[in-house]
Amino acid sequence: MCGIVGYVGARPALSIVLDGLRRLEYRGYDSAGVAMIGDGALLTCKRAGKLGNLEKALTEGAADDVTAGIALGTTGIGHTRWATHGGPTDRNAHPHRSTNGRVAVIHNGIIENFARLRAELEAAGVEFVSDTDTECAAHLLEHELASVRAEETARSASPSGGARGAEPSAGLAAAMRRVCQRLEGAFTLLAVDVDTPDVVVGARRNSPLVVGRGQGENYLASDVSAFIEHTRDAVELGQDQVVLITPDRIEITDFDGNEAIGKDFHVDWDASAAEKGGYDYFMLKEIAEQPRAVADTLRGRLGEAGELMLDEMRITEQDLRDVDKIFIVACGTAYHAGLVAKYAIEHWTRIPCEVELASEFRYRDPVLDRSTLVVAISQSGETMDTLMALRHAKEQKARVLAICNTNGSTIPRESDAVLYTHAGPEVAVASTKAFLTQLVACYLVGLHLAQVRGVKYADEVGAVLTQLQAMPAAIEQVLETMEPVRELGRELARARSVLFIGRHVGYPVALEGALKLKELAYMHAEGFAAGELKHGPIALIDEGCPVICVVPSPVGRAVLHDKVMSNIQEVRARGARTIVIAERGDEAVRPYADHLIEVPPTPTLLTPLVTTVPLQVLACEIATARGHDVDQPRNLAKSVTVE
Ligand code: AGP
Repeated sequence: MCGIVGYVGARPALSIVLDGLRRLEYRGYDSAGVAMIGDGALLTCKRAGKLGNLEKALTEGAADDVTAGIALGTTGIGHTRWATHGGPTDRNAHPHRSTNGRVAVIHNGIIENFARLRAELEAAGVEFVSDTDTECAAHLLEHELASVRAEETARSASPSGGARGAEPSAGLAAAMRRVCQRLEGAFTLLAVDVDTPDVVVGARRNSPLVVGRGQGENYLASDVSAFIEHTRDAVELGQDQVVLITPDRIEITDFDGNEAIGKDFHVDWDASAAEKGGYDYFMLKEIAEQPRAVADTLRGRLGEAGELMLDEMRITEQDLRDVDKIFIVACGTAYHAGLVAKYAIEHWTRIPCEVELASEFRYRDPVLDRSTLVVAISQSGETMDTLMALRHAKEQKARVLAICNTNGSTIPRESDAVLYTHAGPEVAVASTKAFLTQLVACYLVGLHLAQVRGVKYADEVGAVLTQLQAMPAAIEQVLETMEPVRELGRELARARSVLFIGRHVGYPVALEGALKLKELAYMHAEGFAAGELKHGPIALIDEGCPVICVVPSPVGRAVLHDKVMSNIQEVRARGARTIVIAERGDEAVRPYADHLIEVPPTPTLLTPLVTTVPLQVLACEIATARGHDVDQPRNLAKSVTVE
């Protein structure tokens, strides 16, 4: 979720761009940079770390080509990077320049086909200086700009050249359109070109970009918080659009060059609300971001030959074939993701898979050796319990694969292989979008293992991937039907305790739902395997006791569906108030549900991607009704870096 800012007008761009980046810091980032056009030169400066590092380099005039001109330029772009491809280093920071140094590009998103594009460019003699997918766009832009200009020159020179050539500024926009037609994936791009000062060109696909309309100046940004101190008149760009801004023009086209219209709107939010995208809490925003987070985590995972591509694989395929035992180690919500993963990994790979609380793992002297694969799941990549478990595993010669949301953090750095989730920064302490993307990453690991070991053919893996690719839309459907859940939350705010039950992958969902309620509403909540009720917990049920029941699909695992139905009747017989999460169309549950929350029909192993969402919304609503700070619950930290 990088931060992007562009400015063109009569004022020095540097301070405006830096202020804009500061307002986008909430998006999380690990490096920052700017490119300005001043003194007839294109000047860039970029640094790993926080904006302070960049500002220090700018004031000291250190490195890059920082000159006084950079402070005088009135055209500029800036970027805060949340690393995806390539670690958080100076050279991977944006902007990225073309070979001839005359074009600079910044990017938010994932260029899925960057490996192929990079190979083409390197074969043509282009030398890359970074590990990023973005650098491809900079080199392609230089190439396309040269082509556009050559064609323009030829047209002007020919007797039938017709009217005067196009506006010089139009060349950059035309070149950007051609580049966008070659890119696959999700991207917001901004570019400046030293030969067309007073112009910033932007483009977007599956990633946000808004225009700020000023007086004699215009802005581009990933969200309005970057420029609302200067203007509240904005233009939202649509999918596959290119925008050219000058101090007095805003021109929008589609990728084919046809004129297009943006959506004008006036920003009523204050700066704080703008950071939350208009939501009251980051948690609400992050719940709403889950469809895109899941889509982004899936993006670019399939190679040309249909093979699954993980991020940093320092484990050979033979090593993976030699694996005879898997341990998943994690904490809290990440642990619950591991519990779901166990069902999928064992079903697909037939390798025994244990899931362990990281804080317990190394103290029970687990049996590990070179044939053991330890999967460490962590959103922050800094959780000390998980890190210490990972280190213990490595001391025992086990191989470690990290599933992490934070590029360059300690856990992935110390692992043998990494699969990054692309949830973007998760600001709220209570984990939501990170959880769903951890599930997706675990599914991908299971499928990769099954494919490498020959237990699943490419077409079988492809079939599951197709099911996964339908999940963002399914999650979106759930999000669109949450109003009754919010009403229920306001009712339950007065409850003393809530129980959660589920079977199979519904059991970890019950645990996660209980954790959300505990950490947000400070309410006692407990999750159980539904089959465990009769072994003691059913004694807790009294009149009106809320019990949230996660019911499996009647199609996927009918036997489990019927058993959970029996458990629902057991608790109802003792006075429970049953809140049932079930597949849309499952009429069998309706008579036994005091509240029925329906989710789209989903393949059995993937159902946590939809059944978890109502529990997140419910916990959030109950906490709000109780007047709690949803983003920063008491006693909790976003990353627990102590044992
Ligand atoms: C989840 O809502 C909590 N914030 C907490 O359980 C968290 O999942 C746990 O601390 C693990 O954090 P990590 O994913 O960053 O390792």
